[in-house]
Amino acid sequence: MRIILLGPPGAGKGTQAKFIAEDFSIPEISTGNMLRAAVETPLGLKVKEIMSQGLLVPDDIIINLVEHRIQQPDCAGGFLFDGFPRTTAQADALKERHIKIDHVVELAVDDDEIVARVTGRWVHPGSGRVYHMTYHPPKVPGLDDETGEPLIQREDDSLVTVRKRLKVYREQTEPLLSYYETWANSGDSMAPKFSRVIATGSLPDVRAKIMNVLR
Ligand code: AP5
Repeated sequence: MRIILLGPPGAGKGTQAKFIAEDFSIPEISTGNMLRAAVETPLGLKVKEIMSQGLLVPDDIIINLVEHRIQQPDCAGGFLFDGFPRTTAQADALKERHIKIDHVVELAVDDDEIVARVTGRWVHPGSGRVYHMTYHPPKVPGLDDETGEPLIQREDDSLVTVRKRLKVYREQTEPLLSYYETWANSGDSMAPKFSRVIATGSLPDVRAKIMNVLR
């Protein structure tokens, strides 16, 4: 199974990606997590400033990163993209390379809910596990449930940067919704299915809605 999760920052892509990837036994490929993990490398240094401003990293860097990642043996049985593609050029790159995707799922959440989610988010940097101080708190405040290591807040999760990321999403990523919806309805055998899920409600409820469209 090859899946794309599309949606605005804070829609719950990373949270739900962990469940879906586990369920289908496929790796989760989060370009955001990959870039953050590369922080000490020349690539990481190059993109750090762009990311902290809430802007998108150039397409060629992202496409190279993903192209290399999906050639790894663990992707042979499929994968889940979280945060990729984010521009028409990135979606076209998949198409041009004949990388067939089975299903594109949009997670739809309104802007006020997104701001509340992102500004209350805490993450475990080592694993990418995500918490929320109210909606999904860790068992011990400030510590990861599995390792007991400290949680951090992301540099780009300030109120000002979240608003900027939402604007960038509307301008550069939202057009992909009609890109995939139109393609799905075109009758092309290469086209992935397209589904929209209203991603509000409890984490298990959203998970059930997603699994319902994927099965
Ligand atoms: P990235 O890391 O991909 O960030 P994003 O897309 O902005 O998404 P987020 O990680 O902010 O949110 P999410 O949807 O995963 O939500 P989460 O599950 O954490 O990208 C960061 C940056 O990297 C970009 O700005 C860009 O610079 C660069 N980049 C990455 N990919 C790129 C690409 N392809 N091209 C160019 N640049 C790229 O949930 C959020 C919070 O809500 C959590 O606290 C969670 O606990 C909570 N929550 C989740 N579900 C629920 C629920 N149902 N109810 C209540 N709370 C919930």
